[in-house]
Amino acid sequence: MIKQETIDKILDAARIEEVVGDFVDLRKRGTSMIGLCPFHNEKTPSFHVSVSKGIYKCFGCGAGGDAVRFVMELEKYAYPEALRYLAQKYNIEVEETAVSPEQAAVTDHRESLLVVTNWASKFFRDCLWDTDDGRAIGLSYFRERGYREDIIKKFELGYSPEAWEALHGKAIAAGHDEDFLQETGLIVRKDDGKSYDRFRGRVMFPIHNLTGRVLGFGGRTLKTDKKVPKYVNSPESIIYHKSDVLYGLFFAKKAITVADSCYLVEGYADVISMHQAGVENVVASSGTSLTSGQIRLIARYTKNVTILFDGDAAGIKASLRGLDMLLEEGMNVKVLLFPDGDDPDSFAMKNGADAFKQYIEGNSKDFIFYKTDVLLKDAGTDPVKRAEVIHDVVESIALIPDDIKASVFIRECSNLLDIEERLLISELNKLRLKASRKDQQLPEKKASSPFAGNEPPPDLFMDPADGVAPSLETTFSPKVNKSQSIALQEREIIRLLLNYGHVPAKWEQDYPIAFVLLAGLQDVTFTDALCQKVVTVYLTFMEREELPNDRYFITHKDREIADLAITLLASPYSLSPNWNDEKRKIYVAQETDNLKNAVLGALYRIKKRKVEQNMQDVREELRQETNAENLEMLMVKYQKLKMMEKEITSYLGTVIVK
Ligand code: CTP
Ligand code: MN
Repeated sequence: MIKQETIDKILDAARIEEVVGDFVDLRKRGTSMIGLCPFHNEKTPSFHVSVSKGIYKCFGCGAGGDAVRFVMELEKYAYPEALRYLAQKYNIEVEETAVSPEQAAVTDHRESLLVVTNWASKFFRDCLWDTDDGRAIGLSYFRERGYREDIIKKFELGYSPEAWEALHGKAIAAGHDEDFLQETGLIVRKDDGKSYDRFRGRVMFPIHNLTGRVLGFGGRTLKTDKKVPKYVNSPESIIYHKSDVLYGLFFAKKAITVADSCYLVEGYADVISMHQAGVENVVASSGTSLTSGQIRLIARYTKNVTILFDGDAAGIKASLRGLDMLLEEGMNVKVLLFPDGDDPDSFAMKNGADAFKQYIEGNSKDFIFYKTDVLLKDAGTDPVKRAEVIHDVVESIALIPDDIKASVFIRECSNLLDIEERLLISELNKLRLKASRKDQQLPEKKASSPFAGNEPPPDLFMDPADGVAPSLETTFSPKVNKSQSIALQEREIIRLLLNYGHVPAKWEQDYPIAFVLLAGLQDVTFTDALCQKVVTVYLTFMEREELPNDRYFITHKDREIADLAITLLASPYSLSPNWNDEKRKIYVAQETDNLKNAVLGALYRIKKRKVEQNMQDVREELRQETNAENLEMLMVKYQKLKMMEKEITSYLGTVIVK
C-alpha cells in the first residue's frame, strides 16, 4: 500500500496540463486549454483541461476526471499503478506502508529480473547501433527488409553478437547476478556448471509489458539454414508469462482505444511493418495460438478484433477453432485474408502504406460468415458434409453471450446455409441447454463473466446536465420537459456551489456564496438524489464553519459524486433551462462578473417552482374546503403566493434575458 503522505505529495505535484500534455497537444483557450480527445476519435477539439481546477473533461465522449483518473483511463492502470506513474514523472519517492516479508521478497525478485532484462535490451541495442558486426549484419538486415530507422528505434530492436559469452561477460562485469541471468533465460547453464548466451548472432525483438518494460526477447536468425530454428525465444519466467503477453500491445494500446478495434497478427514482423505503414492498433500472438489471458488483455481496450491471416488455406481451417474462444469472451470478431503467399508484413512492404490500409479496410469479413463460407465451399454438394457445416456454424453462434447478436447471426446464416431459421434456432437451443447443464456441474468454473470488473460505467453523460455540452446541443430537443427542467435547476445550484461556493457574496455582507445559496433553499428538498447528496456534504461542512474544496469532490469515493463534480466544474456554460436558446446561454467568463445575477437567478428559479407547487396545493385545498373562515384564509394565502410568483417572475425576467 502506498502511504497517504506519498499520495498527497503526488496529488499536489501533478499538474493536469503537464500530465495530459504528455499525450495531448493542448492549446490555450480562455481560462482553460483544449485539444483533441485521446479517448475517442475526433477532428475538432472538445477536450477541455481546466488548469486551475486540475481536471479534464471531454464534451464529446464525456470522459472526465483529475490527473490520476486521466492516467488510469489512458493507460488502463489501476489506481496504485497510476500513482506510481505520476510519482515517477515528478520524482517523488513512493513510500509504502509495511508489507509482509514474503510479499516484499516477491516484489524484489520480480524487480531484479526486470532490471536484468532491461539491461540486456540496452545491451542488444548498443550492439546493433554501435558495433561493426551489429551494423554490418543486424542493421543492414533490418534495412534490407525495409524497416525505417525510427521504427527500429521505436521497437528497441537489437542484435546479439555471434559469440558464446558476449552478454554473459558484460553482464557479470556490470554486476548482474548469474542466477537472475539464468532465470530470465538470457544465459543457459550447462550440466558442468558453465554458462553460455542463449541468443547468438540474431536480431533481437524485445517484448514489452504494458508500461514499456522489457520482459523477454524473440531472436531471429539471419541464416537460411533450415536446421537452425528461425526464432529463439526467452523461456517462461516469473516476469514472462507468455500466455498473458501480446507482442506490441505497449505500442498499440492508445491506437486501439481511439480506433476501438484491434488487429491481431501472427508475428513480430507483421506488427512492425504495420506500424511503419501507419496502422498502429495491432498486436501479435507470437506464433502460438491465442489464449484467454491474451483475449482479456485486448478486451481491456476494445471488444472488436480483426484477425489477419496469411492466405494459406490449410492453416486457416486449422485456426478456425481457436477463434471460437474470442466469441465466447464476447468479442466481435472479424477476419481478413491476404492473397496467397502474403502475410501482413510482406503485403505492406510490397504495396505501400496506402494500398495496405485500403486493403484491410475493404476486405474484412465477419468471422461467422467467413467460417460458413469456408466450410460450405469445402463441403461442396455432399449432404452429410453440409449437415456438419450447419452444426459447426451453430456451435460457434451458440458461444456468443449476447442473445440479440446471436439471433442476428442465426437469421443471416439461415440465408447463407439455405436452411430454415427455426431449425437453426432449435439446434442453437439444444447446444445452449447442453452447455448450461455442463456449467451447473462445474459451478465454479464460470461463476462470473471475465468482464465483470471491466464493464463500462453506466453512461453518466446522457443526463440533462450534459445538455450544455456544446457538441450535444443539436441532439437535444428544444422542448425541455418539466422533470428535466427541475433536474437542470437543481444541478445549476450544485454547479454554483462547486464553482463559487467559497466566493464572498458582495451583496450579502460577504458571506460565502455557498451560505447564501443554502440559506435561501432551507425549505427546499432536492428531487435529484445526487444533488441532495452534494448539498448534504455542504451542510455537514458548514456546521463546522468550513467549506469543502474542489479536490474533496473530484476525488470523492462515491464515483457518482466525483463524476457530477467534474462535469459541473468543467462546464463552460451556466445550466439555464433555456440553454438551447443561443441568446440566453450565459458563459462562465461573463458569469464571474455578475455572480449576483447567477446566484439569485438560480435561487429564484427553484423558489418559483416551490411557490408554484404551493399554489397548486392551495388550489386543491380550496376545492375541498367548505368552512367559510378557512376558505378566506386560504384565499389570502393564495394571493400572497401569487404575488410572490409575480415578483419572482419579474425578477427573473431581468436576470435571464440579457
Ligand atoms: N515463431 C517462433 N518460433 C519459430 C517460428 C515462429 O516463436 N520457430 C513465432 C514468432 O513470434 C514469429 C511468429 O511466430 O514472429 C510468426 O512466425 P513467422 O511468420 O514465421 O515469423 P515472422 O515474424 O513473420 O518473421 P519473418 O517475416 O522474418 O519470417
Ligand atoms: Mn513474415
